[in-house]
Amino acid sequence: MKVAVVGKGGSGKTTTSAIVARTLGRRGLPVVALDCDSNPNLGISLGVGDDETERLLSMRQSLDEGNEEHAPGWNELIDRFGSDAPDNVRLAVVSRIENPEPGCA
Ligand SMILES: Nc1ncnc2c1ncn2[C@@H]1O[C@H](COP(=O)(O)OP(=O)(O)O)[C@@H](O)[C@H]1O
Ligand SMILES: [Mg+2]
Repeated sequence: MKVAVVGKGGSGKTTTSAIVARTLGRRGLPVVALDCDSNPNLGISLGVGDDETERLLSMRQSLDEGNEEHAPGWNELIDRFGSDAPDNVRLAVVSRIENPEPGCA
């Protein structure tokens, strides 16, 4: 199941996303949460803390600036760019890829 949460700023996207992710995770489903926001702070609501939220964003910035190799597939993306959050949730901060490399997922 894939769930996308969109809407205006301040409408509750981050809060709703975190509650849905953590609720499904607590029920035993493995959850991958992808934060695509230009100002990503889902990590705070998911409980990974300020420093880890900042670290995940810095990895996305490195990718955007061409200083980091793209992951060639989904599993490697989640491994390399993800972080374990409480309640069975794995979080990655991602964005649209402007210049995909050959084989980039
Ligand atoms: N159902 C709700 N009822 C009241 N306040 C809420 C609700 N959902 C979110 N908020 C509050 O509204 C503000 C914006 O929520 P947030 O999830 O950060 O929005 P977004 O990610 O869409 O910008 C936060 O202060 C949050 O605590
Ligand atoms: Mg938000």
